[in-house]
Amino acid sequence: MSALTREIVRTKAPIPTWFGVGGRADHYAEPETVEALGALVEEFRGDVRVLGEGANLLVEDAGVGGLVVSLKALRAVRRITGSGSGSGADSGAMIVRAGAGASLPRLIVDTVREGLGGLEGLGGIPATVGGAVRMNAGGAFGEIADAVVAVRGLTRAGRMFERSREETPFAYRGSGLSDSFITEVDFSLTPGDAVALRDRLKHVMAAKKTSQPMAERSAGCVFKNPLVDGARVSAGRLIDSAGAKGMRVGAASVSAVHANFIVVEPGGCAQDVLTLIDEVRALVRDGHGVTLEPEVVVWRRDEEG
Ligand code: EPU
Repeated sequence: MSALTREIVRTKAPIPTWFGVGGRADHYAEPETVEALGALVEEFRGDVRVLGEGANLLVEDAGVGGLVVSLKALRAVRRITGSGSGSGADSGAMIVRAGAGASLPRLIVDTVREGLGGLEGLGGIPATVGGAVRMNAGGAFGEIADAVVAVRGLTRAGRMFERSREETPFAYRGSGLSDSFITEVDFSLTPGDAVALRDRLKHVMAAKKTSQPMAERSAGCVFKNPLVDGARVSAGRLIDSAGAKGMRVGAASVSAVHANFIVVEPGGCAQDVLTLIDEVRALVRDGHGVTLEPEVVVWRRDEEG
């Protein structure tokens, strides 16, 4: 064990997630610099998982081996003028450079207040910047890839990389970056009317509040919206019409508000959620002939980070 590991790695640490269930991390650290992250990646031979906001994550009850890192120390946000800061920036645009550990909701509120448009459609999505970019978070009002101009990070082998948006294979709920560690993202934001941007953010948040169980313990949508005959259809609508609303395993149940949400009452465990996920999938497969793929990220002990 190196001096760095002895100093900053904790053992058997709880992994806070929005579901509020699941096991611990054998090893856990909060590196304060990209260099420290690199040293940890090397020491754990790439068997490293990044914990973001924990808002889209289910950890199985047995917990996970390897190392879990939080990049909350890498949360600096800087404004950089549009010119000379990478490719893809629109003229007149402002480049905002955010550390992977920065809070996305905070960044949205701050940029909207400054009259910078581009992120307001992501209002109400709990995430760190790195987590949101890695899975290209989004919904009816846009996805985060639309505002990205460059992504920096480390490969699993510990080498630094930088990619422009064009070099990043963004897709529906994917970035092609799940095998690397994002450390910093540049966004291209468009100066606009702060009042109009605030109104749009309010509208986005209000739409979520009426259609989603915001106050309960959940990880947002559990399944991706599947492609049916070439078009994306709402998994929530399919699950609902298959009759799954109110289905329950232990403390986990399918939300009566939005059927693509699983909510967990206190005292539940990750296995309740995993079993319910299987049961919902089976019901939708039998009822609609569609196989749903999880959107929630599941961490399992028998899989490397
Ligand atoms: N619907 C039902 N029953 C339900 C849920 C939805 O009939 O239980 C119907 C709605 O009435 C609506 C349609 O299905 O007509 C679409 O529903 P919604 O507007 O909620 O959109 P969605 O496709 O189900 C997507 C994202 C959400 C995002 C919303 C709004 C995915 C998997 N889901 O949901 O993202 O918040 O759009 O922008 O892409 C998430 O990623 O965690 C998430 C919740």
